Amino acid sequence: MLFPDYRPRRLRKNAAFRALIQETHLSPSQLICPLFVVPGKNKREEITSMPGVFRVSVDQLKKEARECLDLGVNSVILFGLPEKKDAMGSGAHKKDGIIQTAIRELKRSEPNLLVITDVCLCEYTDHGHCGCIINKEVDNDATLEILAKTALSHAQAGADMVAPSDMMDGRVAEIRATLDENNFESIPIMSYAVKYASSFYGPFREAADCSPQFGDRRSYQMDPANSREALREATLDVDEGADILMVKPAVAYLDIITKLRDEFDLPIAAYHVSGEYAMIKAAAEKGWIDGDRVMEETLLSIKRAGADIIITYFAKDMAKILKQPPHSPYVAI
Ligand code: PBG
Repeated sequence: MLFPDYRPRRLRKNAAFRALIQETHLSPSQLICPLFVVPGKNKREEITSMPGVFRVSVDQLKKEARECLDLGVNSVILFGLPEKKDAMGSGAHKKDGIIQTAIRELKRSEPNLLVITDVCLCEYTDHGHCGCIINKEVDNDATLEILAKTALSHAQAGADMVAPSDMMDGRVAEIRATLDENNFESIPIMSYAVKYASSFYGPFREAADCSPQFGDRRSYQMDPANSREALREATLDVDEGADILMVKPAVAYLDIITKLRDEFDLPIAAYHVSGEYAMIKAAAEKGWIDGDRVMEETLLSIKRAGADIIITYFAKDMAKILKQPPHSPYVAI
């Protein structure tokens, strides 16, 4: 059917029609809010390059979690800044480490909150790499054991799900085996299966104080030029026992999200990363774009590409907008 018989504008006439035929929806229950935890009490420091995002001490973290739950955002992912760093990142798996304490406290005050933890060493190593260094290289196999120990310590503290982001080969299998051996067979793994060596992580590295002190992460994170390799990485993680596959970053990699969606039947998560957040915030602060509209359009695009779950620093802001009924993304003419 062609014009004038077919007129696509008929169904765009008003907000009710537009809502009726809306194909993609955002829901607060599928947003994960990243939270940064620091030692101390009553700490709440705004991250310069991420306005509206704070590094908080555990007492403040509980308030953040309460706010998330009140808005329908049931899941958080935790990142920790330890008191001390060392070459082997041993602070990552301490029983009373920053993350382990945060998990215990959060689960005590908010048992219904889904507490997910990022499993990586870069916040805990003095050199800032995601694994330990042997002979001037990030040693894959030596790192596996430390990662598995870290994931186990999170599970023992009460984490609901672990999310390895280190990009070492074989880490999903190693973590799965260690969790199972210790009776944590019911704890799922959300694997950062397809994680690119991206410059969009800049603000996060300020937030988590985890920039590599030498070299970069290109010997373990993926080349942004590659997409077939994404399928190989994801296949490996599926075979090793991942329960959820993640693509990171999100917006510059929408094609990769779609590819994984088409290829796998596991839930797909996308990480809308710090740099992607910062760019929208900065342009909105300058008055160059409408921040709320661009936020919503961006998150919708990630969903439309095929992600079920979005990890985003906008989780609370987006949930606030979704709470205002009746909701339709483009109510105005
Ligand atoms: C840890 C980790 C990073 C991010 C999540 N986990 C940093 C990195 O890999 O350099 C980035 C998240 C963001 O930019 O929002 N490895």
